[in-house]
Amino acid sequence: MGNRGHTQYRTTRRTSNFSITLYIFLFFVLSMFVFFYYTKDIVEDEQKLVLTSEKKEEPEFDENEDNSVWEASKSHGLHPCIKPTAKYKAALGWNRYLTVKSNGGLNQMRTGIADMVAVAHVMNATLVIPQLDKRSFWQDSSTFSDIFDENHFIKALRGDLMIIKELPKEIESLPRARKHFTSWSGVGYYEEMTQLWKEHQVIHVAKSDSRLANNELPLDIQRLRCRALYSALRFSPPIERLGKKLVEQLRTRAKRYVALHLRYEKDMLSFTGCTYGLTDAEAEELRVMREKTNHWKIKVINSTEQRIGGFCPLTPKEVGLFLQALGYPPSTFIYIAAGEIYGGNTRLSELKSYFPNVVFKEMLATPELREFANHASQAAALDYLISVESDVFIPSHSGNMARAVEGHRRFLGHRKTITPDRKGLVEIFDQLEAGQLDGSSFSHLVRHLHKNRQGAPRKRAGAPPGVRGRARSRLEESFYQNPYPECICSSRE
Ligand SMILES: *[C@@H]1O[C@H](CO)[C@@H](O)[C@H](O)[C@H]1NC(C)=O
Ligand SMILES: *[C@@H]1O[C@H](CO)[C@@H](O)[C@H](O)[C@H]1NC(C)=O
Repeated sequence: MGNRGHTQYRTTRRTSNFSITLYIFLFFVLSMFVFFYYTKDIVEDEQKLVLTSEKKEEPEFDENEDNSVWEASKSHGLHPCIKPTAKYKAALGWNRYLTVKSNGGLNQMRTGIADMVAVAHVMNATLVIPQLDKRSFWQDSSTFSDIFDENHFIKALRGDLMIIKELPKEIESLPRARKHFTSWSGVGYYEEMTQLWKEHQVIHVAKSDSRLANNELPLDIQRLRCRALYSALRFSPPIERLGKKLVEQLRTRAKRYVALHLRYEKDMLSFTGCTYGLTDAEAEELRVMREKTNHWKIKVINSTEQRIGGFCPLTPKEVGLFLQALGYPPSTFIYIAAGEIYGGNTRLSELKSYFPNVVFKEMLATPELREFANHASQAAALDYLISVESDVFIPSHSGNMARAVEGHRRFLGHRKTITPDRKGLVEIFDQLEAGQLDGSSFSHLVRHLHKNRQGAPRKRAGAPPGVRGRARSRLEESFYQNPYPECICSSRE
């Protein structure tokens, strides 16, 4: 989808080395001249580029723009590899069934479902289409087929295992083994669990999130997870269609855009206890919400300590400062992938004062979006699609969506993803605020801090040194955040 605008042209014509060098030199001198001549007017020009909905003509490229802010790292011939190895066999256990209740928000459910495909394969079972979480914070009544393309899911995994829509009538009434599988388990654990088949024909899995380890699983199981997530688990046709349309709409306004997962939503701020920059009344409202939400265990939080520790989502203003420091021009189009921003327009205007061209999906296709309004998961699916397709993806906080989008972008060719170093940033934001830094040293520090946080190819990270036991699995980088090396290969396979 979309013209990514990174094409490099090569001339194959024979020209003498001397004239090439001369042309390059002259071109360079001319560019420098044009650059210095125009930079003095840039600010005014960019103010004029502010989004207007009537604007139909091809968006122009600013010749003076620093291209490096848009360019993804080189991926050195790496490519997706999800085909099974020669020794791989489909699971044929037709008459044993795994039923699953998927829990969490959209992306937690998506990765959980991909894991359950792998688990059903290891346990040699038929997978019944999972039930989705309807009671979580998301309060969404969508079923599997509302969100995903059910028939495609079944068909795409035909060579791996059997998937059916519902349990056969005669099986429905049989007693089921109800299991909470242990988090981050390996293949050995699930092979042991096949003992349950001696007594039961149906196993019901009560929770699907993080049931499978990130590492040390057979290559074919890891690749099956990738086939499930990246190729079988497509969104339903209406969601895919609208997602494509929204991306096209964006591209008619802006050749390139940043997708910003601005996790500055009420639930997130309340849960993390982050009240920096808020009024006392707002801080109190968030505290009361936390107090009342039973499943949030930690009630007393020191906001200052949270922020210094790097545990708070960046505020809209901080995002503005951050992007400016990285070199994004004020004309940059920023798509906001998020629910409702806490503090609404007042807070958002702090980002808009740096980047006026802020776009929400509601500004792109209002009538079609009405159907999605009461379905948080479906709206999140649109944000997911637009984020995966963006030129640059920036999450303001870590979380399931940020991880899933980053991983998918790595898989598709290491598209640029900038992960803010929130702990480091807070320190220099405060120095800037205190007048200890000028604009250019601030910018220099921000760029330095993020040199290696732009989604360049690297293997998935293990747990930090010194961590032992079960905490290890929890602290490893998530498989779906970076499926390299198993599903990203350097040689043709
Ligand atoms: C899977 O189940 C089928 C039939 O139920 C059986 O024939 C096959 O041997 C089983 N495979 C494994 C690896 O246990
Ligand atoms: C919160 O933590 C900061 C930094 O450690 C400290 O200075 C402040 O007194 C704490 N506030 C409260 C209310 O405990």
